Amino acid sequence: MGNCWFSSSSSAEDPTPTTTGHLSTVPSSISQSISNATSTSVGSTISRNSQFSERSGDETCPDGQILPAANLRIFSYLELKSATRNFRSDTVLGEGGFGKVYKGWLEERAPAKSGKTTVIAVKKLNSESLQGFEEWQSEVNFLGRLSHPNLVKLLGYCWEEKELLLIYEFMQKGSLENHLFGRGSVVQPLPWDIRLKVAIGAARGLAFLHTSEKQVIYRDFKASNILLDGSFTAKISDFGLAKFGPSESQSHVTTRVMGTYGYAAPEYVATGHLYVKSDVYGFGVVLVEILTGLRALDTNRPSGKHNLVEWVKPYLSDKRKLKGIMDPRLEGKYPAKAAFRISQLALKCIESEHKNRPSMKLVVETLERIESVNEHIREPRIRSTHSTHPMAHRQGQAPLHHRSPLHPRSDGNQNYQQSPRMR
Ligand SMILES: Nc1ncnc2c1ncn2[C@@H]1O[C@H](COP(=O)(O)OP(=O)(O)OP(=O)(O)O)[C@@H](O)[C@H]1O
Ligand SMILES: [Mg+2]
Repeated sequence: MGNCWFSSSSSAEDPTPTTTGHLSTVPSSISQSISNATSTSVGSTISRNSQFSERSGDETCPDGQILPAANLRIFSYLELKSATRNFRSDTVLGEGGFGKVYKGWLEERAPAKSGKTTVIAVKKLNSESLQGFEEWQSEVNFLGRLSHPNLVKLLGYCWEEKELLLIYEFMQKGSLENHLFGRGSVVQPLPWDIRLKVAIGAARGLAFLHTSEKQVIYRDFKASNILLDGSFTAKISDFGLAKFGPSESQSHVTTRVMGTYGYAAPEYVATGHLYVKSDVYGFGVVLVEILTGLRALDTNRPSGKHNLVEWVKPYLSDKRKLKGIMDPRLEGKYPAKAAFRISQLALKCIESEHKNRPSMKLVVETLERIESVNEHIREPRIRSTHSTHPMAHRQGQAPLHHRSPLHPRSDGNQNYQQSPRMR
């Protein structure tokens, strides 16, 4: 995976305050709400462009690049208020630890684009958010400079008094999390081919970060941070916890443990030692979620089954057992060989010893090979009504919901829990 890291005097590690950005001083009201998180050691090179400037990048360097300086538009609170219809509740796309995310419509005023409407996603800091300023700053400094087809585009930001907002390109299909675990008629289960496409896209995004001259460890890889555009191209979002990788003489970075339970690598949770391969563990967890349609962590499951990886590990290494844990929403329409190869890959990614995990470059190559084989998907055989197989369908009737202990009922009032964050 090539990349075009520019050797710039304005290194992202250089904490020099800018003449234009606000990032060197934190308003006391905001700083009070910042948790005593470790420094993300990023400086700011934000230029205060009042015009929306197109980022060169994707066109000239399809493998991605790291811009010498963030090229972000500074939005006024008023224009975001107007774009989101006064942050109206029916424009809410989702909510995370930082705050709510709204859909917005931006009327372009620049002469070249006059009359054009740009659809955006606006993430607004909730005053009670624990994630706060440091993550906002990290997002601006990392994502503002990263450009790759599998990383979401940060268009700009707003900082006015206590208001902190981030403005992104709108991702039409929402998050992978919604598709895998969302319920209701609006959520369509993802077919096999799309799952594979999403896994490859997300893997390419992570590989780009890891193979940059200045390695970036993402630290919060999970299904809710994988966003999907209109054609299901996966783009990684949320760089609030990203960190530069270790210097050449070191194998890891030592940090306060932050991230999301269920996805965070065991060595990191146990010691605070963060390796590039800690991200590979998170990727492996997402692969298991893609195969099974089950959440990395769900305390609504019976005890002993809360942690997906701990629970299903023995099922992943056996072709027959794997069949029993595959997502019933695939209705058996997946190539068994490819699914098994992905489960083998997932097992390598979730190895407890970080050194034994593959690099993301190797993960991308493996997934691409699996995709290129393009095995014929056989329609599942219709079994008798007495079948005990989890995929059993009754002929002429709607598919039965799979209610094995692996896939507990999801049509009741169960509140599926999102994996909690660590801080
Ligand atoms: N650019 C975007 N386009 C479309 N929808 C988005 C965009 N960014 C976020 N969303 C939606 O908003 C939801 C919340 O995102 P957010 O990143 O704030 O929280 P999260 O990832 O669920 O949790 P966390 O705070 O732990 O990262 C996402 O799951 C997604 O559905
Ligand atoms: Mg997120």
